[in-house]
Amino acid sequence: MNYAIAIDGPAGAGKSTIAKILAKELELIYVDTGALYRTIGCHILRQGIDPADEAAVVAALDGIKVELVHREGEQRVLLNGEDVSGEIRTPAISMAASRVSAIPAVRAFLLQTQRDIAATHSVVMDGRDIGTVILPNAKVKIFLTASPESRATRRFAELQEKGDPATYEEVLADMIKRDYDDSHREIAPLRQAEDAVPVDTSGDTLEQSVARIRAVVRQQLEK
Ligand code: DC
Repeated sequence: MNYAIAIDGPAGAGKSTIAKILAKELELIYVDTGALYRTIGCHILRQGIDPADEAAVVAALDGIKVELVHREGEQRVLLNGEDVSGEIRTPAISMAASRVSAIPAVRAFLLQTQRDIAATHSVVMDGRDIGTVILPNAKVKIFLTASPESRATRRFAELQEKGDPATYEEVLADMIKRDYDDSHREIAPLRQAEDAVPVDTSGDTLEQSVARIRAVVRQQLEK
């Protein structure tokens, strides 16, 4: 029987890093759902469309095929057959992804892709609405949070490593705005599912966060 571990929470709480480690340990497929929204954001920006222009974004969905594939244990996202996994990790695409993710037609467009992969594989899936909307029957649900400052510090370090010129202040401001938008949109806002276990990783090292989450997963899987 396939089963799912859902990890939701705001940007930069460590969802993807922790989910990848757990997926490897438990031999599950790791699914990063943010990459799907980023892929749509990427297409919209390439077409010169304003991500806030709902009608134009919805019209553009007709020309988009988004695929999730796993190669050598790593998730890749394909936009009309092109691997855009590297290109989607910029601050501009983060913002565009957050904007388009508030559009109901965009969420409906990506719903089945997410459910299909969980129907055919056991998964660790991270996002904003996995425990509440996409996989309400997930066996384990975790809501991962951390203070905006500690999340911005992590994200800033990642961007610096890639040579991105964004400053810490810009990263923090973007993160606060994106959290607000993601939590206040009408459809599938970021919120903790009633049966999710909250974990705050502020001040933790990666090893400490992983150990805490591993303990929660073990406990929930044994139930
Ligand atoms: O996890 P991320 O930062 O890569 O996600 C990019 C944006 O996509 C995020 O600001 C909100 C949106 N998103 C969403 O609405 N639902 C998800 N399940 C995952 C991401």
